[in-house]
Amino acid sequence: MPVFFQHQINDHPTGVWKIEETEAFFKDNVPLHREVTHPHKRLQHLAGRFLLRYLFPDFPYELIQIAETRKPYLPGEEYHFSISHSGDYAAAIVSRNNRVGIDAELVREQVGRLIPKFLSDNEKEHLYRGSILEQATLYWTAKESVFKWYGLGGVDFREDILLQRELEGLQVIPCFFTKTAIDLDIHYRRFDHLYLAWIVS
Ligand SMILES: CC(C)(COP(=O)(O)OP(=O)(O)OC[C@H]1O[C@@H](n2cnc3c(N)ncnc32)[C@H](O)[C@@H]1OP(=O)(O)O)[C@@H](O)C(=O)NCCC(=O)NCCS
Repeated sequence: MPVFFQHQINDHPTGVWKIEETEAFFKDNVPLHREVTHPHKRLQHLAGRFLLRYLFPDFPYELIQIAETRKPYLPGEEYHFSISHSGDYAAAIVSRNNRVGIDAELVREQVGRLIPKFLSDNEKEHLYRGSILEQATLYWTAKESVFKWYGLGGVDFREDILLQRELEGLQVIPCFFTKTAIDLDIHYRRFDHLYLAWIVS
């Protein structure tokens, strides 16, 4: 069973798929929604689309359109959804009523090099409580989930997404998002080397 993680509260199922299938498996089931030249990226793209219907069996993925920002959406917004991939994992979240954003990220050295660009001085102080790279990956994936939830682009990760101190034991990072001036709860999970963050609001 390639579903690696599944979580459902209210109307918004969330899932992570461990990709073990070939491209042929997905192609028989899913329409391709954009040209993807790189074979592994194409596999990730197909797995993300496949997961949407796995989570919501009547999800009309053949109707997906791509906005100028590259955010995929359904005209009429019958469902809100968000997709992410990293390595051999694809993640998705779907909701009938709320905007959603999801991001999955394997721990990578590259995120460490981006720290000055995406974390404020205040957020950087929190890094020194554990493994810096692990914590930075969590914060990066958290901020990417906000970017995707918002969907309109033009977000400065350091200035616009302000992460607050984590709520102990809840796997939730509170955040203030300046673009819409609202508080958001970023939910997260860690699985070995993979971080997953999502927002429903
Ligand atoms: C668009 C972006 C969020 C994609 O993230 P990524 O980690 O590269 O890739 P992921 O696999 O997690 O996500 C890709 C999926 O996100 C979705 N997506 C693409 N653009 C999107 C957007 N503007 N809004 C919401 N979702 C988007 C798509 O579903 C895409 O997969 P698909 O084309 O197969 O359906 C990312 O490339 C980006 O631009 N981030 C902002 C970077 C930035 O501004 N950084 C500044 C701080 S240094």
